[in-house]
Amino acid sequence: IRVAVVFGGRSSEHAISCVTAGSILDAVRSSPDADRYEFLPIGIASDGRWVLAELPEQGGLRLSIEDGRLPAIGLPASAERSNLVTMAGDPTARELTVHEPGAVPKSLGEVDVVLPLLHGPYGEDGTLQGLLELAGIPYVGSGVLASAVSMDKEFMKRLLAQAGFEIGAYEVVRPRDWATEEGRSGVRLAVEELGYPVFVKPARGGSSMGVTRVDRQEDLDQAIEVARRHDPKVLVEAAIPGREIECGVLEGLEPLDRPEASMPAELRVTGPHTFYDFEAKYLDGSTEVDIPARLSAEEIEDIREQTIGVFETLGAEGLARVDFFYQESVDGGPGRFIVNEINTMPGFTPTSMFPQMWLAAGMTYAELIGRLVDTAMR
Ligand code: DAL
Ligand code: MG
Repeated sequence: IRVAVVFGGRSSEHAISCVTAGSILDAVRSSPDADRYEFLPIGIASDGRWVLAELPEQGGLRLSIEDGRLPAIGLPASAERSNLVTMAGDPTARELTVHEPGAVPKSLGEVDVVLPLLHGPYGEDGTLQGLLELAGIPYVGSGVLASAVSMDKEFMKRLLAQAGFEIGAYEVVRPRDWATEEGRSGVRLAVEELGYPVFVKPARGGSSMGVTRVDRQEDLDQAIEVARRHDPKVLVEAAIPGREIECGVLEGLEPLDRPEASMPAELRVTGPHTFYDFEAKYLDGSTEVDIPARLSAEEIEDIREQTIGVFETLGAEGLARVDFFYQESVDGGPGRFIVNEINTMPGFTPTSMFPQMWLAAGMTYAELIGRLVDTAMR
């Protein structure tokens, strides 16, 4: 099976995507299933140029977290080495074509499936998915609409609330709301209603980039400015007290099968962090994980059902990770789960929850990737 692995990308999660791709290629190429695949690694540089990466004989792309640092630049930056890889205009050909500066375009041949290992805008948000639809190339994961809706926290919340899921209170801050002093005062008043602390986030982002916890009104404007550097649309969310629990989901094996939820996992942030921020997620090992989460059998059943419900409500495909807050009940009965968000291309880094949850269930990395490729191609 020829698999084009697309990674990197224009979003601020570029480096995370490189580590995701490196982890997957390493794991699958050193597994007994290695011979099943021929990988075509296609990187998208931070400036948007597509680059055909070279895969060594063995192992992955050496895109890993070293000394607590992410790969600074996962892809060649020099213009001479850059290629533009395009999809064929003929949607039955399933071909990728590479254009090197000054050279005749060269076909990379037929591709069976694309593994779009991109996080954030221009990759996880339906844009790449649209290109692949046009080219007629099967790909792993959600389609255009589910990717786009799941990337935009405002629309994700609207759909989840409408379907009856419990979500937290929030305010949307649009560019026009922020453009005048009058508008900004209105935003401050609305945020007062939420009560502090609040979390200020770019509406379309990931990996906690641009996210600030704000404990007092004096710090609100600065946090909104920080989030606006990632996305002109900003969300201010009320803090939800409770334990953080995540659950993975895979599309059913056969076309009409129900999606399958993993065991839920709980994460606890230790050390200096006031929330599960970027450093705690990837860099300084200050996150502790329980798989399965310490919940009653009834609660585990509930969260797994809700995870499948969120996946289906948003029309997701292939895979996803749904993140919740859990509130214990006061009378000893089952607690409540409040949906925080869905991620349609969850991270696969060594510290990421999604692969860990399936590995804990006895799946190997190669089986997990095999399942994703098989469901995408059928
Ligand atoms: N956005 C990151 C990659 C995640 O959800 O794991
Ligand atoms: Mg996310």
